[in-house]
Amino acid sequence: MNNAIARTSALLSTCALLLTGCGGGTSTVTNSPTNSPSITSNNTSTNTPATTGTSLGAIPIGIAVAQTSNVALLGQEEVAGAKLAEKYFNSKGGVNGTPIKLVFQDTSGDEAGAINAFQTLINKDKVVGIVGPTLSQQAFSADPIGERSKVPILGPSNTAKGIPEIGDYVARVSAPVSIVAPNSVKAALKQNPQLKKVAVFYAQNDAFSKSETEIFQQTVKDQGLELVTVQKFQTSDTDFTSQATNAINLKPDLAIISGLATDGGNLVRQLRELGYKGLIVGGNGLNTSNLLPVCKALCDGVLIAQAYSPEHPGEINAAFRKAYTEEYKKEPPQFSAQAFTAVQVYVEALQSLDKKSKVNKLQLPELRTQLNQQILIGEYNTPLGVIGFTPIGEIVQKDFYVAQIKMAKDGSQGKFTFLK
Ligand code: ALA
Repeated sequence: MNNAIARTSALLSTCALLLTGCGGGTSTVTNSPTNSPSITSNNTSTNTPATTGTSLGAIPIGIAVAQTSNVALLGQEEVAGAKLAEKYFNSKGGVNGTPIKLVFQDTSGDEAGAINAFQTLINKDKVVGIVGPTLSQQAFSADPIGERSKVPILGPSNTAKGIPEIGDYVARVSAPVSIVAPNSVKAALKQNPQLKKVAVFYAQNDAFSKSETEIFQQTVKDQGLELVTVQKFQTSDTDFTSQATNAINLKPDLAIISGLATDGGNLVRQLRELGYKGLIVGGNGLNTSNLLPVCKALCDGVLIAQAYSPEHPGEINAAFRKAYTEEYKKEPPQFSAQAFTAVQVYVEALQSLDKKSKVNKLQLPELRTQLNQQILIGEYNTPLGVIGFTPIGEIVQKDFYVAQIKMAKDGSQGKFTFLK
């Protein structure tokens, strides 16, 4: 390579990593911390080899979650968790002195949006890895792009069966439906040991909901309960009268819903309005306080399994919980804790990698590959507890919980109460 090409190449790398000042982008870059090393202090990039240039600026990590559409009810909690992690880890020195910089690309709620966001983060923003997308439905389309480009993808909330199996570069910090979902059925049985008849509802246009309902239906059978009906809907539906009426006619003691927050909340509301009095279990797509304005007072009593508890002991969760409650005036939700954790995994894997081979000396493709390997072998003490990964990128996590929604009588306020 002649010198002119080398200089151009180095400059492009630098532009990619500095993210600011090279123009043309629509990425959202959050404020970098003030106590991190200066991004421009040693900006002699044009004479350096064509490395990633991380010594010259913050290390870019992509956040591709739903900031718009109905899926933003989940995605906005992920944005909050990721931003808190960026602030927290940069205040602790980032990656051995180099700050990280989150680059946000909105995936909206569908597959096309996730694919666009991934492509932009990989090719334009030159991130070292991506946290995203929000939905498993999106992951099955977008993650193969990360795989083909050899860019680490860390799913913050994808819980369907088969996500880590998408490829070598795909892992997740969100425990799968098979581990999480049965806990809420067991909690329902504890509250009503007499319950026998179960009605199951699921969104048939959503990969996660289809995967979760399989686990719920299997759990119903394993617990010796009677599955009286399986009712299908779409995540875009707003009227559930026929599904709710069909189920209520069969007199179930328990209704189990696998859907997303808006549809799930409307289904809860309409079940109650039509007179259903039994227990309700909601799946992972309903696991947000953004559900509460949808079903209001009628959300009361819904049981939802949790992969995170705000009360989890340890320093890191205490710091995360404090930062979250100070900013949002409520307890942190699972989706925020998982996004925080995903950023933490990147930071700590980068720290470990940097000790072996300086990340600012690695070419971006090599950095992405080595980072992916490092992520999988690490152990991380996170707000979710101590986690690790199987060789294919499935999370290894110990602690799970069940919460029950408690609403004020007028429906104006509510919260998730963790069951003992
Ligand atoms: N857990 C949900 C999914 O995997 C959000 O799509």
